[in-house]
Amino acid sequence: MSRWSGLTAAALLILGLAGCDGGGMDDQAKIEPYDVPPPQWGGIVGALPPVPGTVHQMEDGEATRPRITADLLARGGDRYAIFCAPCHGPGGHGDGGAVGRVVPQPPSLLSAPLQRVPDSHLFRVISNGKGRMYGYASRIPEADRWAIIAWLRDVQARTPDQPPAGTGTTPQG
Ligand code: HEC
Repeated sequence: MSRWSGLTAAALLILGLAGCDGGGMDDQAKIEPYDVPPPQWGGIVGALPPVPGTVHQMEDGEATRPRITADLLARGGDRYAIFCAPCHGPGGHGDGGAVGRVVPQPPSLLSAPLQRVPDSHLFRVISNGKGRMYGYASRIPEADRWAIIAWLRDVQARTPDQPPAGTGTTPQG
C-alpha cells in the first residue's frame, strides 16, 4: 500500500515536472538559422552559408548599419574591450578572464562558421543573446552594436579561418 502510493506520488511528480517546466518549447535545444552548434553535434549547421556575393535582405536594425570609418572601428574596439572581451578575450579567441566555473567558454569569434554568418546574425546575438550568453540590447545602443560588429569583421578579415573552439586544434589561452 505505502509502496504503491509512493510510486504513484513519484509518477505524478514526474508528470507534473514534465507538464509544467515553465519555459515551454522556447527552451528546447534547437538550431536556428546560422547558429553554430557545439562541435560535439557533429558539424551540422542551421543553414548553409550564403553563396559568395549574396546580398541578403535587411533585418531589424540593419537599416541603421553605419558606414565603416576609422572612428567607427576605434569605437567598436573600445566597446568590445568593455562588454565582450571579459568572456570572448581581447582577440576574440574565447579566452577572456571571466571564463571559468560560472561563465562557460564561448566559441572563438574567429572560427570559420562565425566568419561566414551574416552581420544580421551577429547583431541578433549581441541584442538578444544566445544560449548561455545574455543579450545586450538594454546596455549597448544600436550604433555601438554595429561598431562592435565592424570591429569584429575587421579582426576576422585579418585572421585566417580557424576551426571552432573545443575541437582541440584551436590554440587556447
Ligand atoms: C558573460 C560572458 C559573455 C559576454 C560578456 C559576451 N559573450 Fe558572447 N558568448 C558567450 C557564451 C558563453 C557564448 C556561447 C553561447 C552558447 O552557444 O550557449 C557566446 C556566444 C557568442 C557568439 C556566437 C553566437 C553563435 O551563433 O554561436 C557571438 C557572435 C558572441 N557571443 C558575441 C559577443 C559579443 C559581440 C559580445 C559583446 C557585446 C559578447 N558576445 C559578450 C559569453 C559571453
